[in-house]
Amino acid sequence: TVADLKGVKQGLLRLAVVTTAKYVVPRLLGPFCQRYPGIEVSLQVTNHEILMERFSQNQDDLYILSQVPDNLDMKVQPFLENPLVVLAPRNHHLANEKNISLEAIANEPFIMREPGSGTRQAVQKMFEKEGLGLKVKLELGSNEAIKQAIAGGLGISVLSSHTLALEGGTSQLTILDVQNFPIERHWYVVYPSGKQLSVVARTFFEYLVSEGKQVLDETSVLKVTV
Ligand code: PGA
Repeated sequence: TVADLKGVKQGLLRLAVVTTAKYVVPRLLGPFCQRYPGIEVSLQVTNHEILMERFSQNQDDLYILSQVPDNLDMKVQPFLENPLVVLAPRNHHLANEKNISLEAIANEPFIMREPGSGTRQAVQKMFEKEGLGLKVKLELGSNEAIKQAIAGGLGISVLSSHTLALEGGTSQLTILDVQNFPIERHWYVVYPSGKQLSVVARTFFEYLVSEGKQVLDETSVLKVTV
């Protein structure tokens, strides 16, 4: 468009992100939208499987996910860490233990994300690799619902540390010190290989990759330390 040619960045940016990214992407959008007031944003938050459906139907400009499928032709760029941690209620009997074994975790009642979740995939892969099964007591399709269930004493879970973003010092949840954890992962911003990005999408892509980490550090109320 003429606006693109003149370098005036305006138009709609269509983003689709996995559920853990909703704790971060809106905060990254703040400074971005201030810098480019002509850009409007549509942000879809879904689990991994639905995100991949949107990807295959070319519904959005850019996608943010943590489990990169190896069977799809996509441009992939990591931009932030997204570690998975073991969460328990503050008063849990393992809360003050160090170097807890995976076996001990496998023996605890576990709250699991729904099928189609990338978090679930990563958790299952890690325990299967060690030949361990989890005692899944409850399946929930939402990180927030899982946090409430943990606080309510229904069990422990493994979630992105970013889900603790606004918990603060009075959180009822604690991160357990478990062998093999945190599971180190990243968020990747991806798009189909053959796709020509709009100026707006290209601008956000470059912003995420070059400034994402710094902007997040500057805008964080609380540092999530793992
Ligand atoms: P999910 O993905 O929302 O599908 O669990 C989140 C992630 O992989 O970080």
